[in-house]
Amino acid sequence: MLKVEGLNVRYGKSHVVFDFSVEVEDGELLAVLGRNGAGKTTTIRGIVGLLPGASGKVSVGGRDMSGWPAHRRTRDGLAYVPSGARCFQNLTVDENLEIAAHANGNDRSWTKKRVWELFPKLEPLKNNLAGGLSGGERQMLAVGRALMSNPRVMLLDEPTEGLAPVLVQSIGTLLGTLKSTGVSILLAEQNHQMALRVADRAAFIEKGRIVEVLPTARARDSEVLHRILGV
Ligand SMILES: Nc1ncnc2c1ncn2[C@@H]1O[C@H](COP(=O)(O)OP(=O)(O)OP(=O)(O)O)[C@@H](O)[C@H]1O
Ligand SMILES: [Mg+2]
Repeated sequence: MLKVEGLNVRYGKSHVVFDFSVEVEDGELLAVLGRNGAGKTTTIRGIVGLLPGASGKVSVGGRDMSGWPAHRRTRDGLAYVPSGARCFQNLTVDENLEIAAHANGNDRSWTKKRVWELFPKLEPLKNNLAGGLSGGERQMLAVGRALMSNPRVMLLDEPTEGLAPVLVQSIGTLLGTLKSTGVSILLAEQNHQMALRVADRAAFIEKGRIVEVLPTARARDSEVLHRILGV
């Protein structure tokens, strides 16, 4: 389970995220929705430990990670898939997965074989440089890399950005599959339709503050979508 308590983030003097607190259960997907500039990316990067101006408490499975550097958080249960699906462009697909691997000594560990099974389109490309992949292929590789760290919690920042509708669908299906493996997922999305198809709850943020947390069924046909997202 992911628990975030009182996350505040500042860029220098500019206070961008205010008292962000959520709990995401094992196997639960929480969508974080908000307009451009609302603070979704900053919230995620704050949870991952990438921002020096962040304060607050982050724990995974009861383990307090507050104050840990990002590399230690991502080694011990948090996986981050940044927007734009950044990978090592000059390494092959295979090498990108290899260096992301973190054994956790249990046989349900993710392996390259399991990643190929999940993304059959990726395997024939395994000796290609990541820099030459299409946007959708790179997104699959980014998710595959995150899985290779055997996370308990996945934080995804706009994984459907720039993807064709058919790939948006497959990311949605994938997130559903991941949930069923017990991973807790926090998903920041502009594509609220896709997010609300797979989410259990949605947290709406406006100007860096959570203004509403709703079960998905209520979020879907809510005036909140109109009021906060303007859709
Ligand atoms: N490095 C930075 N330095 C100063 N301000 C920043 C920095 N990065 C982001 N901001 C500001 O913080 C606010 C939140 O930005 P953030 O990128 O978290 O929003 P977002 O919800 O992810 O937006 P989008 O939907 O466009 O991705 C914005 O006002 C943005 O201009
Ligand atoms: Mg963003």
